[in-house]
Amino acid sequence: MNGGERTAVLAGLGTCLPRQEVDNAALLARLDTSDSWIRERTGIAARRIAGADVSVGDLGHAAGENALKAAGLATVDAVVVATSTPDRPLPAVAPRIATTLGLGAVPAFDVSAACSGFLYALAVSAGLVATGVAGDVLLVATEKYSDIVDPADRATAVLFGDGAGAAVLRSGRRGDPGALLGVDWGSDGTGRELISVPERYDGFLAMAGKRVYLKAVEHMAGSTLRVLDRCGWAIGDVDALVPHQANKRIIQAVAQRLSLPERKAVCALERTGNTAAASIPLALAHGQEAGTLGAGDRVVLTAFGAGLAWASAGLVWPDITTVRSEL
Ligand code: UT7
Repeated sequence: MNGGERTAVLAGLGTCLPRQEVDNAALLARLDTSDSWIRERTGIAARRIAGADVSVGDLGHAAGENALKAAGLATVDAVVVATSTPDRPLPAVAPRIATTLGLGAVPAFDVSAACSGFLYALAVSAGLVATGVAGDVLLVATEKYSDIVDPADRATAVLFGDGAGAAVLRSGRRGDPGALLGVDWGSDGTGRELISVPERYDGFLAMAGKRVYLKAVEHMAGSTLRVLDRCGWAIGDVDALVPHQANKRIIQAVAQRLSLPERKAVCALERTGNTAAASIPLALAHGQEAGTLGAGDRVVLTAFGAGLAWASAGLVWPDITTVRSEL
């Protein structure tokens, strides 16, 4: 182990996607939209939708199991679940996942920060590790937006998909590959109505798309610059940016605002759409498989979503594996 302060180190990734793929053509039957509108405005061609018999906990369980396999671990000291679509308001999803994974009586709790959920949970988990409260942490981001999206609303139904991604964090030192080197996070409750599930809309998600778009670009770019500062990196040092996967045009605009070549920004939403908290770990798995993320690369993750809430993190990419499955 190299020297430096104690921090969380990324040790393995897991993903789980629902088997059912719904492409743009399938949406035309019930929505006044077109394949070209969806592709040109968002970059999305298809999304995965979980059946009624697959819960957000099932997806999270499978992704968590896969991450444990990838890291070669059978036990952890805590389970943190990022989700904005729990199947019930109470109890949290995390204790169920901890139990079904056979992890015993470990502390397990949910973090609710919508599309920034994975990075918020990463910040919380890293704090647990850095202070010695936990050694190894299983972080699961799992979402079933098909539960809260109105299938008849073309402004949102074309965007979101279901899925889960998970990461194992181990206790290590800042010099280790995969060590979390810096975090930036923030929120702005004045924008809480821009993406919300208001009761008056029958419990379905409502989003002020255009305004959210502009805020997403502004906050992901600003947060990225602050985390670069914390990591001691310049924009030219960044090998890959892994942004929240909401819209290809947002990703392009963030890269442009940062003067980062577009090829360095991972875009993995074409066949999964926006999976909220799960989007960053799914994009990490995609980037690793596509070879966009290689061991030793300086990688910045950045996200923005409902709350409003945003977060970014920097790490040097480790030599890890990803285990995938479908449900
Ligand atoms: O994950 C949380 C963060 N979420 C996001 O970051 C999403 C941010 N927002 C966006 O990605 C984009 O704003 C959208 C993809 C939601 C919309 O793209 P846009 O370029 O901002 O379009 P717009 O909202 O300005 O709508 C343009 C037109 C409107 O028609 P009018 O008013 O010009 O007649 C919409 O009614 O496009 C219409 N429209 C559609 N047309 C065909 C909206 N949705 C659709 C659709 N198909 N699915």
